[in-house]
Amino acid sequence: MCGIVGVVGTRDVVPLLVDGLKRLEYRGYDSAGVATLVKSGALERRRAEGKIVNLQARLQEEPLQGLIGIAHTRWATHGAPNESNAHPHATERVALVHNGIIENYRELGEELLAKGHKFQSQTDTEVAVRLIDQYLIEGLKPEDAVKTALGRLRGAFALAILFHGETDLLIGARRGAPLAVGFGNGEMYLGSDALALAPLTDKIAYLDEGDWVVLSRDGARFFDADDKPVQRAVRPTAISGAMIGKGNYRHYMLKEIYEQPAVMGDTINTMVSPTDRWVHLPDLGIDLAKISRITIVACGTSYYSGLVAKYWLERYARIGVEVDVASEFRYREAPVDPNSLSIFISQSGETADTLAAMRYVKQNGGRTLVIVNVPESSMAREADGVLPTKAGPEIGVASTKAFTCQLVTLAAFSLAVARARKALSEAESAKLMAALMEVPAHAAEVLNHDEDLQALAEKIMDARDVLYIGRGPCYPLALEGALKLKEISYIHAEGYAAGELKHGPIALIDEQVPVIVIAPSDSLFEKTISNMQEVMARGGKVIFMSDKAGLAHVDERTFATVVLPQVEPFVAPILYAIPVQLLAYHVAVLKGTDVDQPRNLAKSVTVE
Ligand code: G6P
Repeated sequence: MCGIVGVVGTRDVVPLLVDGLKRLEYRGYDSAGVATLVKSGALERRRAEGKIVNLQARLQEEPLQGLIGIAHTRWATHGAPNESNAHPHATERVALVHNGIIENYRELGEELLAKGHKFQSQTDTEVAVRLIDQYLIEGLKPEDAVKTALGRLRGAFALAILFHGETDLLIGARRGAPLAVGFGNGEMYLGSDALALAPLTDKIAYLDEGDWVVLSRDGARFFDADDKPVQRAVRPTAISGAMIGKGNYRHYMLKEIYEQPAVMGDTINTMVSPTDRWVHLPDLGIDLAKISRITIVACGTSYYSGLVAKYWLERYARIGVEVDVASEFRYREAPVDPNSLSIFISQSGETADTLAAMRYVKQNGGRTLVIVNVPESSMAREADGVLPTKAGPEIGVASTKAFTCQLVTLAAFSLAVARARKALSEAESAKLMAALMEVPAHAAEVLNHDEDLQALAEKIMDARDVLYIGRGPCYPLALEGALKLKEISYIHAEGYAAGELKHGPIALIDEQVPVIVIAPSDSLFEKTISNMQEVMARGGKVIFMSDKAGLAHVDERTFATVVLPQVEPFVAPILYAIPVQLLAYHVAVLKGTDVDQPRNLAKSVTVE
């Protein structure tokens, strides 16, 4: 979603700001802008609708210089994605960029209108800049004007603020949306995340919830939600500029798909000891043998990894599991059982609904465990326990490697719960663990079929609708396959539990509709095959994804097949993620869509 960069520098900051924005492109946006203090001390800005190249073109036409500046990529919430709604928003005295939503913008807007302010945009953000402006007009110093304004804003935000004539002052604030401070050599930076600042510094401090910060070239002064001066730890970040390049790949998404064997291996290695080949979880402060129930909450692709885990935990650990999307869970006023465990799954660790759901459980006395990919994220910092995935920075908006790393983490966790509850024999656990440890090698084998999937993509790229079906732990894979295709190729696709097909979706099937059947040879295989027969009987184009044993069941009516390694059914859902990702990727490339930044989507959804 929106991205913020700010620099108090010793050189022309515009190239640094634009470069920072490019690093935040992955979050999804629809306009961009930059503001600096020019030589006279006046605030100047350039903004453009659409991609950063448009902003660069604006800067070519009308260059901007300055040693201090702020910049922003906007993902529209209030007001269309056009130039006048793009950030920075500014008056003569103050310029500001904002992530999040200011909820009381109407009430504040009316107050400011009555004081003579004339609004120039349809955004909620403009009230923040005008509120600070009003306090400056009333004679407050910049720091006090911001402090007073922060006390009046409701909602979720991260802000970066610049003032007329203040060549050594940049103020940042965080409530509900993350903000990082970077420490350079005689320069200081603000960024929505460490990725934005990666080439500038590896020394990062994160603002805590409610903090605000005053930057000048020689350092940062932090204040907490009660405006008391506080210290915030400056830590070296492991993210380097090199980690976020595309390498030789055409798209980040493809690179990330190909990284899966390595990053799944890294993730397994953080939990499983090679000596005793068993899961060693970090201290979660939870006795897994005594928990009564598990609730899993997440959004998007992370929700689907939670759905797979439900099958694993119920079957192997014999514990009841409920899975919910965060935007529903957080408002359901669900009772929280103190003996249960709530797991929150998130790549970014910042998704607004998942974070709010986690806070709800904490406030109601429940125990929280998060599975996150960004170790410095809000969820990682606030949860009772953390299981980190080691996917590394994921830039493509459509999640791939983060998903499979979540799956291996949840698989290992399920085995640990099963052992704690004595639900599996030693031999059975050892067999499943061995299968899990072989997943990275099998994933590499699956990638060898990339060309076949590319050829298959040509056959389905013109479809108007595509159905995906699966059973058991492969039902969530059908949902994920359909989501991937929708997200990046804009083809309408739906995932169904194979047994549910005849309760409605079968009416959609004719010779034009590809139906992707995800069916490893497991205990449910024959039932899925019956559903596949129902599709073929109605002329549907079946694309059958299975292993060698499963493929022995195909007949000449099958439109196409995809062969996967013969594996222990426990780990099959992890491997079947790869062909559905590759298929969606190749269809999108053939259709010429913006694979890494699909229209309307954001990587990290920090508004509810
Ligand atoms: C957005 C992204 C998805 C992601 C979802 C949840 O919709 O486009 O790829 O699965 O958010 O994000 P999280 O960071 O919480 O996993």
